[in-house]
Amino acid sequence: MNDSVGDDRVPHVDEDAAGRRERKEDHVRLATAQWTGGARTTEFDDLEFLHHALGGVTLEEVDLSVRLFDREVAAPFYINGMTGGTESTGRINQQLAIAARETRTAMGCGSVSIALEDESAADAFRVIRRENPDGLVMANIGVGRSAEDARRAVDLLQADALQIHVNAVQETVMPEGSPDFSTWLSGIEQIVRALDVPVLVKEVGFGLSARTLAQLASIGVSWADVSGRGGTDFLAIENDRRPARDYSYLTGFGQSAPAALLDAAAHREHAEHLRLLASGGVRDPLDVVKALALGAQAVGVAGSFLKAVVEGGADGLIELIGSWQQHTRELAALLGARTVADLRSSDLLVRGRLREFCELRGID
Ligand code: FNR
Repeated sequence: MNDSVGDDRVPHVDEDAAGRRERKEDHVRLATAQWTGGARTTEFDDLEFLHHALGGVTLEEVDLSVRLFDREVAAPFYINGMTGGTESTGRINQQLAIAARETRTAMGCGSVSIALEDESAADAFRVIRRENPDGLVMANIGVGRSAEDARRAVDLLQADALQIHVNAVQETVMPEGSPDFSTWLSGIEQIVRALDVPVLVKEVGFGLSARTLAQLASIGVSWADVSGRGGTDFLAIENDRRPARDYSYLTGFGQSAPAALLDAAAHREHAEHLRLLASGGVRDPLDVVKALALGAQAVGVAGSFLKAVVEGGADGLIELIGSWQQHTRELAALLGARTVADLRSSDLLVRGRLREFCELRGID
C-alpha cells in the first residue's frame, strides 16, 4: 500500500519498500532545493497592514502563547509534518525534535505509514518522543488508512494529536499515487470517531476550500490546516522525480493559505466550530502575523525550517525559531496586539491576485 506524501492505498504502480525510502529522501532533497536560492513571492505579499503610528503596545505586554489541542505552546507557530522512515530522515526528525524541545515549539512528523508497514522504519519516528518527551507532538498519516492504523500511528509517537493529510493533487500526478478519492471523507470520519486524541486534517500545499472545511466540520473534525500553495510545491517535486510524467502545466493549481483563510472567514456558516491553522509558503514572522490576522490559531512551517535544519542542524533551527519568536512578538507590539486574538482586529489591505480571488468568491 502507498500514500504519496506518506504511504497508503492502491497505487497506479506498485512501490516496494526501497522505493518508499527513496521517495522520502527525494522529497527532502527536492524540497530543500526549492527553499534554497532567491526570494520567493507569494500571495502573502498581496496582504499589507495599514500602519497606525500611535497604535502599538509595549513589548512586555505581548503574550503570544497559544493553546493547541488544549496544551499551551510558547509561540503561535509550529514545525509542520515532514519526514521520517529512513536513517537520514530519522536524523532530521531528531534535530527537529531537539529544536522543538529547546524552543517549546509544537511539532509534527512525516507520514508514519511507512513504519506501520516496516518496523525497521519506526525508529526514525520514535526518536522524536525520545528527544522531546514532554513536548506537543503530532503523528501523521495519509487519508485512506484505517482507524486501527491511525491508532498505531498515535501510539508510536505517544502523540498528542493526529494529522491526517489529504493530498489529492499529489496522488493524481505521482506514479505511486492512488487517486481513489471517493472514500476519503468517510475514512476520516471513522478515524475521528475511533481516536481519543484530536484529529487535524491538513492539505500539503494546495489549500482547503470553504466547502472542504464545511465537509470536515460536518463529520466532527475540530482542527484543519489549510496548507496552501506558494511554498513547498509537490507538483514540482513529483515532476522533478519523474520528468517523463510531465504535469508542469498544472503549476499554480489550488489556493494559497491567505486565500483559503479569507474564503473560510467569509463562508463560515457550516464550519463555525472548526479551528483553523495555516501553512504553505510561510517565509518569515511577517507571514506568521498575517496568517494570524486572517484568523489562523497558529501557523505551520515546513520548508523554511527544513532548510534551516539541513543547513545548520538543530542549533541552526533553534536560532531561527528563537529569532522568529522574538520578531513575532515585536510585530504584534507594533500592530497593537497583546494576544493572537487581538491580531485579528488589525487593518489588513488586500491587493493583486488575492483581491481578485476575493472578488470572484464574493468576499468583501
Ligand atoms: C511535507 N509535507 C507533508 N505533510 C504531511 O502531512 N505529511 C507528510 O508526510 C509530509 N511530507 C513532507 C515532506 C517534506 C520534505 C516537506 C517539505 C513537506 C507538507 C508540509 O507539512 C506542508 O503542508 C507543506 O510543505 C507546505 O508548507 P511549507 O513547506 O510551504 O511551509
